[in-house]
Amino acid sequence: MPSHATRTELAALVGLACRAPSVHNTQPWLWRVEAGATRDTGTVELYADPARRLPAADPTGRNLLLSCGAALHHLRVGAAAHGWRAEVERIPDPSRPDLLASVSLVRDEVAPSAARDLSAIAARVTDRRRFTSWPVPDARLEHLAQIGSLEGAEVVPLLDLTRRHRIDLLFARARVQQAGDLRLREEQRLWIHHSLRDGIPAAAVPAGAGSRFDDALLPDPSADPADTSYDVSCNASCNAAYDTGLDDPFLTEPAVDRSAVATSDGMLIVSTPDDGPLDQLRAGEALSALWLRATTDRLSVVPLSQVIEVEETREALRHQVLDGTTHPQLVVRLGWQEIARSTLPRTPRRDLDDVLLH
Ligand SMILES: Cc1cc2nc3c(=O)[nH]c(=O)nc-3n(C[C@H](O)[C@H](O)[C@H](O)COP(=O)(O)O)c2cc1C
Repeated sequence: MPSHATRTELAALVGLACRAPSVHNTQPWLWRVEAGATRDTGTVELYADPARRLPAADPTGRNLLLSCGAALHHLRVGAAAHGWRAEVERIPDPSRPDLLASVSLVRDEVAPSAARDLSAIAARVTDRRRFTSWPVPDARLEHLAQIGSLEGAEVVPLLDLTRRHRIDLLFARARVQQAGDLRLREEQRLWIHHSLRDGIPAAAVPAGAGSRFDDALLPDPSADPADTSYDVSCNASCNAAYDTGLDDPFLTEPAVDRSAVATSDGMLIVSTPDDGPLDQLRAGEALSALWLRATTDRLSVVPLSQVIEVEETREALRHQVLDGTTHPQLVVRLGWQEIARSTLPRTPRRDLDDVLLH
């Protein structure tokens, strides 16, 4: 039956969308697909799954919406690559805030970039290993920022050293704040090796690479107050740097020994004109757009959301790194991985049956 065939095709598009990145690989989305009156039309609805919001790291649901935005962009790209034209209505019904997008699909020409786009979706991965010291050319960062900005966000490349220095201090500050939050650390720990369908395999989190999960993998300091292994010099010295320079916390150089960012890394800030659900959804679409393009260019991308999750550093980022007119939603670092490196284990995804509403 045509409608059954169409439904199967639309479900396959949802499968592609679910390859999108999501915070802690929570995959906080649900979908409803419906075949249209003819086999050339159909609708896909994207819903937030609030049960998958991270209560400690993401109490307002920002990262959840960013993740769903990335999945929405993946859906659009996958649809175009399979010969569907998509018309998207974002947050179409304010009385149903979990309904994030309604996508009407009509059969059309296959996008000329189909093969490249599908390869990018298949190859994209969060690779947290240290990048090589090859710098990312400014022109390439500017190009990726433009690609992201076409999605209704404002993506800002950080090209000057002063702002880079400021952001490094804010990263350190955010890490210190979150390291002291046992609820948050427990939540991070929970999502490593969470299940065969979601969460992050421990092998995808290289130890000591400066990723947020370094802290989650360290022993819990509350278990034994005599255990000082957790009190790494980074935390102590970054605190000191920040505390002594409260008038201008950026005057002091911190001795960051496990920095998430090397100076040769490229960096972009995804920001938006306002800070509502629609902005956060669009920021996620921008993230996906620039990430897929970076993947095609063989550039590695790692989102860094801690500095956004901590209100104090998010505000400082807004006013002291950006010019105060836009709202930062996510920082991403970019760089080149060594060519000869082994491939990382892929993060799993939930079964389609678990994410499709009937
Ligand atoms: C909104 C958002 C925030 C994220 N924040 C971080 C982060 O702070 N640190 C990190 O290492 N990865 C971060 N990630 C990457 C996710 O952990 C990753 O996408 C997820 O585990 C799925 O793995 P994959 O990207 O390899 O498919 C973030 C992803 C999203 C969408």
